[in-house]
Amino acid sequence: MTLRSKFSLLGAAAVGLMAAGCHTDMWVQPKHHHPYQESDLFADGNSSRPLPEGVVIHGKAKLDDAKYTGRENGKLVNRLPDTLTLHRETVDTRKDLLKVIERGKERYNIFCSHCHGATGDGKGMIALRGLSLKRPPGNFHTDRLREMELGHFYDVITKGYGVMYPQASRVKPDDRWAIVAYIRALQMSQNMDAATLSPEELSKVEASSNMAPSAKPSGAAK
Ligand code: HEC
Repeated sequence: MTLRSKFSLLGAAAVGLMAAGCHTDMWVQPKHHHPYQESDLFADGNSSRPLPEGVVIHGKAKLDDAKYTGRENGKLVNRLPDTLTLHRETVDTRKDLLKVIERGKERYNIFCSHCHGATGDGKGMIALRGLSLKRPPGNFHTDRLREMELGHFYDVITKGYGVMYPQASRVKPDDRWAIVAYIRALQMSQNMDAATLSPEELSKVEASSNMAPSAKPSGAAK
């Protein structure tokens, strides 16, 4: 046997011994696998310990309830949070609503339009073409959803609704609100009383759309 092969034999034996040693020790150590598992170590018989008094959540503390739940005192809110961080920029939603809506449009088109359609009528491409859903994607242009508090839309994005799965892992809370603002804008865009538009607004609508009859004030449509 050469010196070299003697060494490799020794090495192999050592590795084998070490692995066997470590392995067994860690395999049989006492541990609790589940929260609140029974334990004979603590007097209350519970392996989970209560939080010490005054403890503060580390990291992603969600202290602003309405912003993270869409509810205030259990009731759905009907306004946007005052500020949102959109694409790393802090936006005042009361002064810069257009910016919020533009971000919302971008996110909506990425995360929602394939099911709900570009206008929110529920006729998105994959809903029409392939995905077999137990129920069709919601149409946002119903009286119920037009009158619905903004918090509901936030809630649906966060937790899902019926057969719609939650989008929380894909869309951050601030972006969810931007989408909510855009949905409301979509709802208004499909249900506007043309008589409330200024002549300039009306001519813009007519220039950008061939569906003029519904966009004209009732008196002028002859
Ligand atoms: C994979 C397809 C799909 C995607 C993506 C999707 N939805 Fe839905 N959505 C559905 C379906 C299906 C329903 C109807 C659920 C039901 O009635 O059980 C629904 C329902 C809804 C409703 C109606 C809730 C109500 O009160 O009736 C809202 C609002 C909504 N979705 C918002 C969104 C938003 C915002 C996004 C993007 C962030 C989104 N959805 C992404 C499929 C989808």
